[in-house]
Amino acid sequence: MTKPRLWITRRLSDATLERAARDYDVVINHADTPGTADEIIAASADFDAIIPCHSEHFSAEVVAQLAPRLRIVANHSVGVDHCDLPALKARGIAVTNTPDVLSDATAELAMLLMLGAARHAVTGDRIVRSGKWDSWSPAFMVGKQVTGARLGIIGMGRVGQAFAAKARGFDMDVHYFNRSELSADKAHGATYHSSVESLLGVADFLSLHCPATPETLNLMNAERFAMLPKGAVIVNSARGALVDEDALLGALESDQIAAAGLDCFQVEPGGNPAFAAHDNIFMLPHIGSATRKTRDAMGFRALDNLDAFFAGETPGDLL
Ligand code: DGY
Repeated sequence: MTKPRLWITRRLSDATLERAARDYDVVINHADTPGTADEIIAASADFDAIIPCHSEHFSAEVVAQLAPRLRIVANHSVGVDHCDLPALKARGIAVTNTPDVLSDATAELAMLLMLGAARHAVTGDRIVRSGKWDSWSPAFMVGKQVTGARLGIIGMGRVGQAFAAKARGFDMDVHYFNRSELSADKAHGATYHSSVESLLGVADFLSLHCPATPETLNLMNAERFAMLPKGAVIVNSARGALVDEDALLGALESDQIAAAGLDCFQVEPGGNPAFAAHDNIFMLPHIGSATRKTRDAMGFRALDNLDAFFAGETPGDLL
């Protein structure tokens, strides 16, 4: 039987690529450059399936130009804001993602961002690394304590819940806003807030874990930063679109916000050059899910979805 033709847009884990090569007639972009609109459109004439990452954009304009051969977009990501889902659905193209398997890795990174922002990781590393650490005093680099503090989580899905579990290890008092209240066995005692505004009032630390949608664009704006307790710390390991970056800078400059830990930016790759002047912004380059274990699991999950699709079954993560 002829194997379906599969285009893998980026260099995925070795185990993923080996399995893909075994089961599909696969072409891999070993150059590992983001797939452009033209490349995606051209590939749709030659491939039955694509495994893209969030770096490949299936906008309505791109989707309108896809050839009929392409039947499934099996994303190697949980976030699908790079895909115009209604446009893909209207073209009859199946779309899947890779939930669950990256929740712990992303929550770990959110914890790193929170601790790093709260305890001056950028300044501390710079001082030691540059050989300028020449004194110590009890007033030196005093940060904000995480243990026992109030934590607000916006978006209590899989990653939000994994982050809450890790935060409980720090005895944090977990509060959350979510579209719906979690059952007691999932909430583990966390306090539900039926509005973002109510949550912000208690969030000494705030961590964002909701998807980027038209409704969540600039969710954290100047008005909402002002609702946080003075000196709060904000963490974003979800999507850059959730934070109005000018408003964040304003909140940091007025000391309304003490520090930020960011893995996501409005412009990626690259980030916001204006952030570089602020040592109280601890930044990482969108690596929330970047562990070896999770990369294998994401690749295998994308392939599981493809296998089900080409076996005539409904993929487990069909959107
Ligand atoms: C995701 O899976 O959405 C991560 O951000 C990596 O793309």
